[in-house]
Amino acid sequence: MRTQVAIIGAGPSGLLLGQLLHKAGIDAVILERQTGDYVLGRIRAGVLEQVTIDLLDEAGVGQRMHQEGLVHGGFDMLFKGERHRIDMNKLTGGKNVMVYGQTEVTRDLMDARATAGLTTIYEAANVAVHDFDSAKPRVTYEKDGKQHEITCDFIAGCDGFHGVCRASAPRSAIKEFEKVYPFGWLGVLSDTPPVHEELIYVNSPRGFALCSQRSETRSRYYLQVPLTDKVEQWSDQAFWDELKLRLDPEARAKLVTGPSIEKSIAPLRSFVTEPLRFGRMFLAGDAGHIVPPTGAKGLNLAATDVKYLSNAIIEFYQDKSESGIDSYSERCLKRIWRAERFSWWFTSLMHNFPENGAIGQKLQEAELDYIIHSEAGARSVAENYVGLPLDFGH
Ligand code: APR
Ligand code: PHB
Repeated sequence: MRTQVAIIGAGPSGLLLGQLLHKAGIDAVILERQTGDYVLGRIRAGVLEQVTIDLLDEAGVGQRMHQEGLVHGGFDMLFKGERHRIDMNKLTGGKNVMVYGQTEVTRDLMDARATAGLTTIYEAANVAVHDFDSAKPRVTYEKDGKQHEITCDFIAGCDGFHGVCRASAPRSAIKEFEKVYPFGWLGVLSDTPPVHEELIYVNSPRGFALCSQRSETRSRYYLQVPLTDKVEQWSDQAFWDELKLRLDPEARAKLVTGPSIEKSIAPLRSFVTEPLRFGRMFLAGDAGHIVPPTGAKGLNLAATDVKYLSNAIIEFYQDKSESGIDSYSERCLKRIWRAERFSWWFTSLMHNFPENGAIGQKLQEAELDYIIHSEAGARSVAENYVGLPLDFGH
């Protein structure tokens, strides 16, 4: 098979890239090792920056998001038993975020791709990338017991943290930066009304908690738990009891509990690959970087990587220029490191680090006090949370 761009991975990055390239008349095939239902079954974050909202509109998949998404102008920070609202809208001159699950974003992109009759090969096994240091890269894979080959001009590695593309880059050409956090997030999805109309980030002596949502009838909650915990150890009742112990009296009284429809523990890490380009192969999204979910940056970083990459590929074909391709990695990394910093800082501020002792909690509370009572401090949180503009370059 021949295509212009072979995209590895049908998560949000691969699907959005495929959609933006299609809009520009560029042919792309997506190879995905799982089934579509498996991809949709992954429960991930759900906060979209304005830049991401605009990109989904540009891709022609924003309709349901605008109908069902929840616009949030702020969020609460709970510490020392008191809630304080970060008024993002006021502090950023009118910017908001949209609460809309990644599963829904993925579904909207999948539906658009199917409607356009574009090729996504699911259950593609043993995908391998070849000759990406030449002008004629290739991808091979197995399907239905047969070996297949795709010749292309570019390979887009949208295959996530555990994908094959980054792993195939020459070790001498790649540098990886990683920080693993000494705890995980135990997440529960429940068909219960959210405890509050906006998100609540909690720093409590018992650990971090987050009260989020998917709609007016579906909630998402997280608890910081030791890395040694197994999800089987946590009954629904144990989860709700612990969450209540970390909440303030008002939220505790309002919390509606119910059966979990999804429950899982995810590790937290900061991870960046430099560079993100290897000849005709490019990494985008989780394939190139991971953020701890505290800052809700994962999906938003993936979206802007994809926007920069689609612009570069479109420029190659339409203007016969390679400047976008040549600057792709540097342009993404400026934004990635800003988001990595905020995600690391917010994680360090809101979670318990027992190794830091009692003074660690006191220092966190002092920083939280500063943020809440300083407009400059609160604005720093707000402008990072709503996200940097697409043309950010300093
Ligand atoms: N061959 C084909 N497909 C692969 C391979 C492979 N060797 N390895 C991984 N994949 C697929 C995975 O099955 C997955 O569907 O690549 C896709 C990668 O999707 P994601 O991991 O969701 O990464 P991305 O699309 O960049 O989306 C980033 O997802 O993990 C969250 O927080 C993250 O919100 C962010 C978003
Ligand atoms: C979520 O709704 O899953 C969510 C929201 C905000 C975060 C992380 C996860 O920071």
